[in-house]
Amino acid sequence: MTQRLILASNNAGKLKEFAQLLSPIGFDLHAQGEFDVPEAEEPFGTFVENALAKARHASRLTGLPALADDSGVCVNALGGAPGVHSARFGGEPKSDERNNRKLLAELSTKADKSAYYYCVLVYVRHPDDPQPIIADGRWDGEIVVTPRGANGFGYDPHFLIPALGKTTAELEPQEKNALSHRGQALRALVEKLK
Ligand code: IMP
Repeated sequence: MTQRLILASNNAGKLKEFAQLLSPIGFDLHAQGEFDVPEAEEPFGTFVENALAKARHASRLTGLPALADDSGVCVNALGGAPGVHSARFGGEPKSDERNNRKLLAELSTKADKSAYYYCVLVYVRHPDDPQPIIADGRWDGEIVVTPRGANGFGYDPHFLIPALGKTTAELEPQEKNALSHRGQALRALVEKLK
């Protein structure tokens, strides 16, 4: 028997990536947009609180279990910024180009360019689930000034994985999923759900 599960996102890439690992263990994943769920507010200062808010919101409006993710890039010399503010670091409306420009400007005087991507996933069985299932992942790298690569999104052209000598925008999607913060979190969540 399959269990319907709502993904608290309308990102088609995420839906596909998540469904690949969740279908084999019995979940039938649907984007929240299919149920006319509007985007939830993400007002909190931690990734886990924002993911929990998104999962609860989707579950409350659909009456089904829900899964939400929250992620961002954390730069050590900037005290972890942009962190939870990654999507809108450069202001409204959100723009990858403005985000990257602001990141490079703030980092230009810093010697330490180390950074990491972070992702947390939260699964709730119902909106008031007292024991949400939580998994996270982290992917270390460093910020480079010159963009490279055309894959991925967001900060990927400026996020170098030194061991590979490539930015995350130079990785094929499957290669990225095998290593990324989101891939790590998803595989950890699948183990817990099993
Ligand atoms: P969200 O959790 O999908 O809303 O992602 C938050 C923001 O973090 C995105 O808009 C990107 O700016 C950034 N981000 C998260 N994951 C990645 C990634 O894998 N590559 C590039 N940027 C990312």
